[in-house]
Amino acid sequence: MISKEKILEVIEGYDKKKLTLATVCSHTSLQLFYSAKQENIRTLGLVTNEAQRKMYDAFPLAKPDEFIDVEDSNKLPEAELAERNSIIIPHGSIVEYAGKALDKLAVPVLGNRNSLLWERDRVKMFEWMRTAGLELPALIDPDKIDRPCVVKHAGAKGGRGYAIVHSPEEFYAKFANQDVMVQEYLIGVRVYPHFFYSPLSKEGYRASDGHIEMLSIDRRFESNIDESYRTVIAGVPIKPSFTVVGNEPLVLRESLLNDVLEMGKDVCEAADKLFGGIPGPFCLELICDENLQFYAFEISARIVAGTNLYPTGSPYSLFAFDEPMGTGRRIAREVKLAAKADKLGKIVY
Ligand SMILES: Nc1ncnc2c1ncn2[C@@H]1O[C@H](COP(=O)(O)OP(=O)(O)O)[C@@H](O)[C@H]1O
Ligand SMILES: [Mg+2]
Repeated sequence: MISKEKILEVIEGYDKKKLTLATVCSHTSLQLFYSAKQENIRTLGLVTNEAQRKMYDAFPLAKPDEFIDVEDSNKLPEAELAERNSIIIPHGSIVEYAGKALDKLAVPVLGNRNSLLWERDRVKMFEWMRTAGLELPALIDPDKIDRPCVVKHAGAKGGRGYAIVHSPEEFYAKFANQDVMVQEYLIGVRVYPHFFYSPLSKEGYRASDGHIEMLSIDRRFESNIDESYRTVIAGVPIKPSFTVVGNEPLVLRESLLNDVLEMGKDVCEAADKLFGGIPGPFCLELICDENLQFYAFEISARIVAGTNLYPTGSPYSLFAFDEPMGTGRRIAREVKLAAKADKLGKIVY
């Protein structure tokens, strides 16, 4: 992992009036590029193939100011990025495909690079959630599977390849000698709240050394489980799968908002304690059961794809900002505010 000192040195050398927000053209890039333009910040898109570039012809207002071709998402062009005073905005595709290449890159990344290590490793992620005091699904030893369990591979792959097993025999038939985690299957409604932690001001909902905002909430739409009622009614037997296809909006019973805000704060403060905090956007993946008890099964310390529903804001961001404010725009705004106050070092690593 490159040192924070080195990144602070790089940012010190930047022309703060000519910053560029750079990201890989995928995941949440339309939202990020569109929003950065709204905040008058230059944008740079990294493309690995022609199809990625072509998409923006359909969405010209969300096209980056400049494209750079890269051979592979795990070969990010360090010199070109630094020359343009770039800050990398990490998203799910970068975390998944650039992986370890991002650890060494001498270009500032929005947020705390250390969080990538905790996000990448499911065991560490559970330690983080436990430190935050969240209720979690039970982790089950494969030999003791006594209830329906989800078996997950290491790393976020958008739910691909997961399976439900009911017994040790079923587990070993499918997953012998594989690097997986076995969790009890949680029953309830999925809730994915999108937060933003800013260490730049203590106004609002206090957390760590600043405040958190809850900008929006989504629910994922996963194939085939989320349409399975049709399949079942049509008399077609299915094996449930969890491949993310898209997202849909959600608002919560207002009486549940306190719980969700407290969980956001606790996750933020646990990150402080464990690895130096998580400036910027983060998301919790929760299931709320019939007793209105929340269980957490994942944290993403970066922008998540569910925020793509709200490029102009949500029913929640409206009550905090009297202007359209999605997560992409909030990121661009934070960079602008930090640059102005000479505090970029507080929000990048
Ligand atoms: N413990 C669980 N109980 C019930 N459903 C789960 C559980 N964990 C995950 N899921 C379902 O599987 C999907 C993908 O799981 P997740 O751990 O978020 O995968 P990824 O790491 O690919 O993001 C979730 O969005 C949810 O629908
Ligand atoms: Mg997930």
